[in-house]
Amino acid sequence: MDTGHATYEGETLSWDAFMEHKIADLMFVADEDGDVLGWVSASKASRRSVFDGVLEDSVYIAPDAAGRGVAGALLDHMITAATEAGYWAMHSTVFPENQGSLKLHLSRGFTEIGIAHTMARMNYGPMEGRWRDILLLEKILEGGPAYPEYQARVKE
Ligand SMILES: CC(C)(COP(=O)(O)OP(=O)(O)OC[C@H]1O[C@@H](n2cnc3c(N)ncnc32)[C@H](O)[C@@H]1OP(=O)(O)O)[C@@H](O)C(=O)NCCC(=O)NCCS
Repeated sequence: MDTGHATYEGETLSWDAFMEHKIADLMFVADEDGDVLGWVSASKASRRSVFDGVLEDSVYIAPDAAGRGVAGALLDHMITAATEAGYWAMHSTVFPENQGSLKLHLSRGFTEIGIAHTMARMNYGPMEGRWRDILLLEKILEGGPAYPEYQARVKE
């Protein structure tokens, strides 16, 4: 959050507010000897029930645990768990400046959908006052129910 390139949220949410749209079965924490290294969570990408199989992920790693493959391992775990639970796609929204998150998602097979412009104005940190764009990424889950159709289209 300190970099201004991770989230629009400028303040820590209460647990209830944080959990309001989270899927409890798809929250995973990485720890080492009891110290939290990072976590990944997911929420529905849309409130419309027809899109129930599409998730949006969120991943945060403690600064001193970065670069050790923790986010990759957490995201891999979520992808497996989401596929087993019947979800069919994951979306991620990343500030274009957040090269770490972009590379993380690309390394796990996410592809860029495009840029949504001036999504919101930042209200904290080094980017305060700036209208920010958001890069949208997607991953159709291999082994999920939409994958055969997706694969057929990619081959066309
Ligand atoms: C971005 C972040 C999640 C990466 O976590 P991490 O544990 O350091 O990532 P990993 O070590 O698992 O790396 C995963 C992949 O991303 C790449 N990567 C990670 N950080 C990178 C960086 N800063 N620059 C370039 N590539 C990077 C790694 O090379 C690796 O690729 P590979 O699997 O092909 O080797 C972490 O830095 C973080 O929590 N940042 C702040 C919060 C944030 O921005 N969250 C995302 C909000 S959308």
